[in-house]
Amino acid sequence: MPKQVLITGGAGFIGSNFVRHWCQRHTGRVVVLDILGYAGNRANVADLEDQARFRLVKGDICDRALVDELLTTEQIDTVIHFAAESHVDRSILGPAAFVQTNVVGTFTLLEAFRDRWQTQGKPHHYRFLHISTDEVYGSLSADDPAFTETTPYAPNSPYSASKASSDHLARAYFHTYGMPTLITNCSNNYGPYQFPEKLIPLMCLNIMLGKPLPVYGDGQNVRDWLHVSDHCTAIEQVLHQAEPGDVYNIGGNNQVKNIDIVYQLCELMGEMAPANGIELPKTPRELITFIADRPGHDRRYAMDISKIKRDLGWSPVYNFTDGLRQTVAWYLTHRDWWQPLLSAEYQGYYKNLYGDR
Ligand code: NAD
Ligand code: DAU
Repeated sequence: MPKQVLITGGAGFIGSNFVRHWCQRHTGRVVVLDILGYAGNRANVADLEDQARFRLVKGDICDRALVDELLTTEQIDTVIHFAAESHVDRSILGPAAFVQTNVVGTFTLLEAFRDRWQTQGKPHHYRFLHISTDEVYGSLSADDPAFTETTPYAPNSPYSASKASSDHLARAYFHTYGMPTLITNCSNNYGPYQFPEKLIPLMCLNIMLGKPLPVYGDGQNVRDWLHVSDHCTAIEQVLHQAEPGDVYNIGGNNQVKNIDIVYQLCELMGEMAPANGIELPKTPRELITFIADRPGHDRRYAMDISKIKRDLGWSPVYNFTDGLRQTVAWYLTHRDWWQPLLSAEYQGYYKNLYGDR
């Protein structure tokens, strides 16, 4: 029987990529619950809205009555929970929203799902997949081994602390109630539809607009980059193959320093913009500007993905150079998608954060 899925945060970056991936491969009902805040964009799933089995609901995961109604009327058996406040810099400026959505929102979903699962007689095929991050494990120094599923939690930002809290709740619902929760912890994603506050799309847009490329601190921080399509296949495999209560690390085996990404983006943009009929206002490299570091900035993340490789046979397929090239091409050719996001609110946010730069 096809799964009847509720996808929270399905109008955001990873959520919308996943919804499209899922709809191409599976039949069955697909309901997206998204508050359509600054990062949730109806345009991200517009191509799916003509499918009868697809429904986008604008609403808050903290709204228990709404979640109950959706689980019941849509006969949901599977929740894939992406919805979150996701940007570290915003969590430093205003942590309250992170506690509300990431902790209280996750708790609300877990409670509603527990109620439905119990009322239905605890069916074996029900699943609650909680999407989380490598940031819960804290920061690595240059020679530390990569994070495994048993690395102790040590979140350093309000964002990662709120995600760690929600991971603990999902874990506790399995251990206490036997509820079939699954948790995935993934490294940095990149690809189409990422909101241009995150490193890669921000740099792409600023190069096109001739604006400074703000590099925090010395630019030597390392992230483990994974193409969003690889994240989608990993989530799908976890959903189909993992045992209730399982936790899987997902990553790209691809550690790169921030400054090297910025250099690569400058080069790719310089090469690809003219081919797409776009004249760059300034030489990209000249826009690089080192600015004050992010408070509490984690130095390095790296994921050990041997468990998911061994148990589920998953590995990333994208090579970073090709993935970055594809991503740059997407931002070059989707001005209609990103231009509306450069609104007064968005600009104001950056002004508050960094002043004029
Ligand atoms: P995003 O900010 O692009 O999307 C988040 C979505 O959640 C948005 O559509 C937003 O409108 C929605 N949302 C926020 N608050 C909500 C609420 N109260 N009710 C309903 N919807 C709400 O983030 P993303 O990068 O797509 O991340 C998705 C998930 O993956 C998050 O849980 C994040 O922690 C996790 N994650 C992200 C990355 C990454 O590199 N982006 C890596 C690992 C894990
Ligand atoms: O590791 C997974 C996490 O990756 C996810 O859980 C988060 O939701 C996601 O936002 C991302 O967090 P990061 O803080 O790593 O991503 P961000 O794109 O904000 O920054 C990547 C690196 O680039 C980080 O070291 C900070 C730096 N940076 C970022 C921005 C936006 C800059 O130097 N300049 C910038 O303007």
